[in-house]
This record gives sequence, C-alpha cells and structure tokens, in this order.
Amino acid sequence: MPFSHLGLSDPLLRAVAEQGYTAPTEIQQQAIPAILAGRDVIAAAQTGTGKTASFVLPLLQKFSQDEKTVRPKRIRALILTPTRELAEQVENNVQQYGQYVSLTSLAMVGGVDPEPQKQGLIAGVDILVATPGRLLDMAYQRAVYFDELEVLVLDEADRMLDMGFIADINKIIERLPPQRQNLLFSATLSDEVRFLAKTTIHQPVEISVSPADATVAAIDQWLVTVDKDRKSALLSHLITEHQWQQALIFIRTKHGAAKLVSQLGKRGISADAIHGDRSQAVRSQILADFKAGKISLLVATDIAARGIDIDKLSRVINYDLPDDAADYIHRIGRTGRAGELGEAVSLVSRDDFRNLCAIESRLGHIIARKDIEAFAPKKEVPVSILNYVPKNAKAPRPAKPGAQRAPSSKRDSRPKASSQPHKKTEAVAATKKGGAPRPQSGPKNASAKVLSPWAKWESKNKK
Ligand SMILES: Nc1ncnc2c1ncn2[C@@H]1O[C@H](COP(=O)(O)OP(=O)(O)OP(=O)(O)O)[C@@H](O)[C@H]1O
Ligand SMILES: [Mg+2]
Repeated sequence: MPFSHLGLSDPLLRAVAEQGYTAPTEIQQQAIPAILAGRDVIAAAQTGTGKTASFVLPLLQKFSQDEKTVRPKRIRALILTPTRELAEQVENNVQQYGQYVSLTSLAMVGGVDPEPQKQGLIAGVDILVATPGRLLDMAYQRAVYFDELEVLVLDEADRMLDMGFIADINKIIERLPPQRQNLLFSATLSDEVRFLAKTTIHQPVEISVSPADATVAAIDQWLVTVDKDRKSALLSHLITEHQWQQALIFIRTKHGAAKLVSQLGKRGISADAIHGDRSQAVRSQILADFKAGKISLLVATDIAARGIDIDKLSRVINYDLPDDAADYIHRIGRTGRAGELGEAVSLVSRDDFRNLCAIESRLGHIIARKDIEAFAPKKEVPVSILNYVPKNAKAPRPAKPGAQRAPSSKRDSRPKASSQPHKKTEAVAATKKGGAPRPQSGPKNASAKVLSPWAKWESKNKK
C-alpha cells in the first residue's frame, strides 16, 4: 500500500518521500487512519518500525486541515517522552514531516535554560514535545495552559505510566481538558499497562502489529559468559578482534559508564559516554556526534535505551543486563531498525543471572551463547529455566467463583518456551558448585521483578 492511500495531504506525502520512505510500515498503515478518524489508540509495534510517523503524520494532517490561530501560551497537541534526547528527536521528526505545512512545534526539556522555551510558547504552538518534569514547572509558572489541547500522545507509554513517571503524568492529565484524543505508543505494552490505559481512555482502538514483546528478527542476539571483573578486558578483546567500528554500549550506572570509558582508554580504545551526571548540552552534543559517526563507540546508561534512532547502527552491547526485561528489548532495539540488520551482544556474569532469567523468560527463548576460551568464567552462569516449575510444586488452586481477578500478568501473555529443553540439571549442578542463585528463586524472583513496577522504581532509586 502506498502512503497516498492513507488520506494524507500532498505536503505531507512530499515530506515523507523526501525522507526516502516508499511505503508505510504496518503500524503506520493501521494507526494513521484510526487517528485521523479521531479514535483513541493504544499501539504496540516492534522497535524501529516507524511509530513516530504513525502519530506525527495524522497530527500534522488534522491540524493543517483545520488551521486555527493558537492563542498565546496554548498548545493543540502534547507529546510526552521519558527522556530529553527523545523529546528533541521527536520534535525534530515533527519538523521534518511537517516541513511543507505551516504548523509550529517546540521541544521543552529539562537541564537547559527555560527562557527560550518560555519565549517560544508566548505566541502558542501547535505541537509541544516535552518531558514531564519541565512541562510541570512551566505549567506551575503559568507559561503554558492546556485549555485548547486536543490530543495527548504518550510515546514509550509503558515507561511513562510506570512508577518513575506516573505521579507527574497524573498531575499533567488533571490539567488537560477531558474531551481530548489519547494516543499511546510503545514497543512493549504489558497487560497491566493496557488495563490501566483502558480504564482511563474511552473505548480505545488497540493495535498490535507483533506478538507482545517481540524483538526484531533482524537482530542477531548472542551472549558471552564472563567473570564480572574481566568484562572490560573481554569488551576490549571483542572490539579489537572483530574490528567493531561502531557500537552503543549500555551499562547500568553513571559511575560505571565513566569508569568503562577510562578502562577502554587505557587499552587504546577511544569511547565517550552519556549519562545523567553530564550536562544536557554535553549529552546532546555527544549523541549528535555519535549519530553523525564522529564518535564510534558510545557508552550509555538507559537514558539512551528508549526511542533513540541512530541511522544504521550496527551493534548494541549490553555490558550488563538491565533490571527490567523490557529495557533489554528497548536497548537492543537501537539496532536493526527500519529493515536493517543488527547485532546485540551481552556480557553476562553470574550476578546478571537473575536478569538473564527474566529476559529470556520474557523473550520466550534462550539467547545463543558463544564461548571465548580465554575469558571462560570461574563463576559459571547457569542456563536459565524458562517458566520453571519446581517438581514438587502444588498445582495452582482453581480461583474461587466470583473472586476478583487482577489483570493477567505479562508472563501469562508471553509465548511459552515449551520447545526449550528443561535445563534444571545444569542449573542445580551450578548451584551446588558455588552459590549461583537457586534455579527456583532465580526465574521466580526475576519474573516478580518484571511484574512489579514498585520493585523497578525502588531499584532505580537506589542507584
Ligand atoms: N515508512 C517508512 N519507510 C522507511 N523508513 C521509515 C518509515 N517510517 C519510519 N522510518 C524510519 O525508521 C526508523 C525508525 O523510526 P521510529 O524512530 O519512528 O521507530 P519506533 O517504532 O518509534 O522505534 P522505537 O520503539 O525504538 O521508539 C527511523 O529512522 C525512520 O526514519
Ligand atoms: Mg519511538
């Protein structure tokens, strides 16, 4: 199906053609007509499949068809994103897709001088892309009013609705007119998030173009097991051995990111880092340089995990595994975008085992392992047991008639790994040898971690 069948105007079709898009992606084919019809939409589609254009193009179409003079300090659409970098990127996409229509847009993010943003709002803007904290500051200062708002978009909706953001989101939603169109997009939408959204949104259209949590098949995922204290040596070895020209390397902590850059530097490998302790100006510049190919190796915390689009990025490396399995899907989704091939390599030590179990359970399959003899770990990493049920476990009791049921868990909706061999023996053997998480507690606790936004929030705040 060509773009012209979606009911978009010539100026938008021209802009899309100039981006080099020949046909709409699946999510674009489904979401654009629904949004143009004025429906509320909850949409899940894999990373790198063009979700941004799925909500930006119909916004531009609606507003350019129905041109209004926006009153001072008013906005017609609000797009909320979890990170400043993503807000800037999405606003940049609004400008690209909207270059031949006369609508205004603005990015409003924290960590930079608020004055230019206030000035930008004085005349009113059609599309505001913001991070929640700065937007609330502006609302408290009466620099922005929402009484003319027509559309709310939550990009990375599950992240925006989890414990880290929900309080701010609620404060923002309280201020919005109740009569508005709501659009929620993410690559990972759990049943809990869908349930939460459905209870607050009026009869939304639900669009799911891939199975829940599916990763992109074009990403070649593999892992190497290694002792924690040898990870930086292994990474240096992999970079030089495979002559990796480009990689985005994810690591959990800001301190770890800075330390890794220095360890790589000592081995003659030049890398840079972005994390929350660097100024916003530096963060933006480094990311721009990485996108432009001026920096080849970038170490990043999860601020770069969601939504960030780096043209033809060939490889993502997980220096450690994220606590939340959804973050693994988003991290590796920085590669293999828009139909390109990609590679995702994880360095896994024994203390990553719980996270590995949670990730592999969520993916529904074991990630291929490659052994590198010189780095074989002393502390073996057991093979995960997907959806492990202890042999002597009692069968679950049937629910009492009429009992309240919580929304079904993420685990329930994930593909079952029935084709995978049960690796109980390996895991138990490793446990006996020396203190790896017991297989029973590994997957179980790991799943609990995935399920509980509280646990995730707490663990993030401990760092
Ligand atoms: N119809 C299309 N044809 C070709 N490329 C496209 C098309 N639509 C979008 N793209 C390109 O695909 C890439 C990914 O788009 P986008 O960032 O919107 O993905 P996403 O689905 O939001 O991913 P994520 O889940 O990581 O946020 C971008 O480089 C974009 O320019
Ligand atoms: Mg996106």
